[in-house]
Amino acid sequence: MKTKAAILWGRDQPWSVEEIELDPPKAGEVLVRMVASGMCHSDEHLVTGDLAGATPEPPLIGGHEGAGVVMEVGDGVFSVVPGDHVVFGFVPACGRCPSCAEGHSNLCDLGGATATGWQISDGTARHHAKGQDIALGIGALGTFALHTVVHEASCIKIDNDVPLDRACLLGCGVVTGWGSAVYAAEVKPGDTVAVVGVGGIGANAVQGAKLAGARVVAAIDPVEFKREKAMEFGATHTHASIDEAIAALPDTTWGRGFDKVIMTMGVGNGDALGQAFWLGGKRSRIVVTNIHPVSEASIAIPAIFLTVYEKQLVGSLFGSGNPRKDIPKLLELYSQGLLDLDGLVTKTYSLDQINEGYDDMRNGKNIRGVLKYD
Ligand SMILES: NC(=O)c1ccc[n+]([C@@H]2O[C@H](COP(=O)([O-])OP(=O)(O)OC[C@H]3O[C@@H](n4cnc5c(N)ncnc54)[C@H](O)[C@@H]3O)[C@@H](O)[C@H]2O)c1
Ligand SMILES: [Zn+2]
Ligand SMILES: [Zn+2]
Repeated sequence: MKTKAAILWGRDQPWSVEEIELDPPKAGEVLVRMVASGMCHSDEHLVTGDLAGATPEPPLIGGHEGAGVVMEVGDGVFSVVPGDHVVFGFVPACGRCPSCAEGHSNLCDLGGATATGWQISDGTARHHAKGQDIALGIGALGTFALHTVVHEASCIKIDNDVPLDRACLLGCGVVTGWGSAVYAAEVKPGDTVAVVGVGGIGANAVQGAKLAGARVVAAIDPVEFKREKAMEFGATHTHASIDEAIAALPDTTWGRGFDKVIMTMGVGNGDALGQAFWLGGKRSRIVVTNIHPVSEASIAIPAIFLTVYEKQLVGSLFGSGNPRKDIPKLLELYSQGLLDLDGLVTKTYSLDQINEGYDDMRNGKNIRGVLKYD
């Protein structure tokens, strides 16, 4: 079939919205009519090359935070049927590999296959444009498109009454941010928490920390609008920089340092991480959720404090959550008023407006911009 998609033809180029040819789903695959897709910063790393080597080279179709309606399923697909509403987990969850069996399906063995950009099932392309195969960006999903074909392991069925332009955010930003606080940082009642960077991920780390019972949630972002929004999501303090937050430690943590520090800046960098290491107190946990450029080979931290303060430095993918458990669970929290999804969507755009949406992200105008397709 013919459909429309946003293609990145080369590094540092704008997304090009054009007609593509989409093959039917093969065994284990699902054809989905997309309804909405969030514009996560991770797709920007594909444009800049920060993820070079870990993601497919252009040309590729971007987008990994999507939701839609199943149109057709390939042979052997049993978990969804046409008409089902689905959110894509940006990490697949096969349910059978050791990581999935251990309850860490954010690290599903199928995840590695998505790095090629071709279909997980057989390593070939379903998407074509200008006579050539087109790869899919993060997660082998291609949500910047009106239709796509993905592996069944990426599809999480949700209730049909949840608005898909909100549900799409559960495919990456919400679970990643919320889980960075609740699962990776293990925020406990009474903890003091710092969140560094208030975008689609950091706003949800603030929400997760708040719901987990943190008594102090300090949100750090150079953009004033982000700091104002952070207060709406539950922050108790805001600072314009890590330095400012360090200076305020006597006020926010009685000079002890934060129990948990969560890194959710647009682009991770070693200098900022080394600086943020000073935000943590004794037995603190510093969670690295933001993506550092693949080319950054080393970082400098005062490692002595790993020992004498028992500080912990941990990474987190998809908030250390499980798509099949956490996507429906967090949608329940939304329907009960315990999680704000509406406030995350600063602005919606049509697929044709995708470059405007990413400009707004770069300029700090959005918590999340969302592409809506109908
Ligand atoms: N680990 C994962 O599973 C996972 C999943 C999704 C996204 N990510 C990564 O998380 C990061 C955040 O993504 P996002 O979509 O929220 O990005 P975003 O661009 O929406 O937000 C980033 C925020 O960081 C702020 N910022 C920039 N420099 C800062 C600094 N020095 N100090 C404090 N704040 C600063 C920006 O003003 C912005 O508000 C990205 O690196 C993204 O690739 C990781
Ligand atoms: Zn993302
Ligand atoms: Zn698995």
